[in-house]
Amino acid sequence: MTLRDGMFAESTFAKVRLSPHEAEPLPHWAYTSQDWYDREQERIFRAQWNYIGHASQIPKPGDYFTCDVGGVPLIVTRAQDGTIGAFFNSCRHRGSKLLWDQGNCKLIRCPYHAWAYDLKGNLVATPLVEEEMAEHKPNLGLHRARIEVVDGFLFATTNAKLPSAAETLGSLPKEWAGYDPANLVCTRRKSWEVKANWKLWYENYNDSLHVPFVHPDSLAKQKVAGRQRASHVETDGAYIAHFTMHAGSRGLLTEHQSQGFPRFPNLTGRYTEGTYYPCLLPATLFGFTVDSVWVFELHPKGPDRTTLVAASLFAREATERPDFEEKAAHYYQRVDTIVPEDNEAVERQQEGLCLPVGLSGKFTQLETLCHAFDNWVLDQVVDRPA
Ligand code: FES
Ligand SMILES: [Fe+2]
Repeated sequence: MTLRDGMFAESTFAKVRLSPHEAEPLPHWAYTSQDWYDREQERIFRAQWNYIGHASQIPKPGDYFTCDVGGVPLIVTRAQDGTIGAFFNSCRHRGSKLLWDQGNCKLIRCPYHAWAYDLKGNLVATPLVEEEMAEHKPNLGLHRARIEVVDGFLFATTNAKLPSAAETLGSLPKEWAGYDPANLVCTRRKSWEVKANWKLWYENYNDSLHVPFVHPDSLAKQKVAGRQRASHVETDGAYIAHFTMHAGSRGLLTEHQSQGFPRFPNLTGRYTEGTYYPCLLPATLFGFTVDSVWVFELHPKGPDRTTLVAASLFAREATERPDFEEKAAHYYQRVDTIVPEDNEAVERQQEGLCLPVGLSGKFTQLETLCHAFDNWVLDQVVDRPA
């Protein structure tokens, strides 16, 4: 399929647009084509709010981390006055990348000609050429991206026209309030390079049919008493969600159920009896369980490459316990067991989707949220009839 063949024409997707029990999944080239991927970068990742982390990753003045939003490299800083800012990771002199990974600094110093910026992005030093650059300095601050903190979670966008991130999330902050997200601490972020399209991981997270087959010795051992599902049309924000009723904590494998942290004290209603999985659009998968939170961040790197970051978050009180590391290790073990199982599943799927011909597929009633997600993607990328 090429651009010329109507890759982005609404009429190409008539069968994806049908109701879930009649519909086909997205065609395989939506997971393999560079043109399709480029369109997603432009119309999804550079057009929307993107989850980029939690404020606890940069607790002190001078702390920073780097990330990438729709191919735009960003620096996220905490300034001396405690405010959080986001800037393009590109020097205003001649464009060198400024920072990598995460750390702490007083000034952001370019590795090329040593121009230095403060943590609010102002250009403050231009060694050897101070006199020449004096009048230009005020106009050569780092370019800013929009950043917003919602209950401790960080969102960034390069789109100046979007309404606020909080508004985009609709009632989700009310749903997660009992977990007190601003009081969470991110204690570990572990990443995997996955040889698959980012959408396959998103769909996999919303597919309850695969659990007994892909996770027979881990996740499938935990009995599920019931499930509730809500598409992005049924929620009132940019997310779809499912809820699983079960005993114990979904953050721990069966054999460690008695070794967890105390439950979040302010949970009410269904949240005391299971795990809430809101999946932000475009690419962030949350798990709020009774005693801990995890976030799977999908960072697309190409049509068939994704960096998956699994972040683990706990209540501040849990992280201050003397036995924190010992107990947290059980939660990390659960992530380290399940993620490779899912990675393998989506990598096999990616290989199977690399065909020179189009084949039609099918959804079951356990995959209705995959159908909802596929249709949301189409809403963003297809060309609307004039
Ligand atoms: S490119 Fe950064 S100081 Fe020259
Ligand atoms: Fe899975």
